[in-house]
Amino acid sequence: MLPNITTRADVENLVNTFYNKIHDDTTIGPIFNDVANVDWDTHLPKMYDFWEGILFGTGNYRGRPMPPHFKLNETHPFRPEYFDAWLALFYDTVDELFEGEKAAEAKMRAMNIAAVMAHRIGQINAGTNTSLLHRNE
Ligand code: HEM
Repeated sequence: MLPNITTRADVENLVNTFYNKIHDDTTIGPIFNDVANVDWDTHLPKMYDFWEGILFGTGNYRGRPMPPHFKLNETHPFRPEYFDAWLALFYDTVDELFEGEKAAEAKMRAMNIAAVMAHRIGQINAGTNTSLLHRNE
């Protein structure tokens, strides 16, 4: 039986395992490695804080998750398969390491945020974005 997600160390394990998969993925890895040229030493701690905040309401994430993706989309338009790859790897990682209520919640939250992001980026790329509808992000 796998453990539930209960501690910051669990969150770090989840995030590290997930981004190792992202790094090596042929669909989405190049976006992180080559297009965005992600500094992993900065990105990973930020993501520990982000997920700790999502799951436990603690942690130090004070950023805005959406803008970096909109910016990246300007130079390198997101494709639907990026979201499919991202979510599949996230689900695989959670299922490989954890089970229980928080594990289910992590997948649900990832799915919801990815859906909002995909929707907004889809609107932007279709030319139907309006600042009124999106000003909160
Ligand atoms: C198509 C899928 C996605 C791609 C290609 C992608 C890519 C990226 C990249 C390149 C960055 C910037 C890293 C840097 O600092 O250099 C980033 C930041 C981030 N991503 Fe994503 N992402 C995706 C989906 C998601 C989803 C679904 C979530 C949330 C569940 C998410 C949460 C974040 C957060 C919180 C940050 C940090 C924002 C900040 O700077 O405060 N991403 N992402």
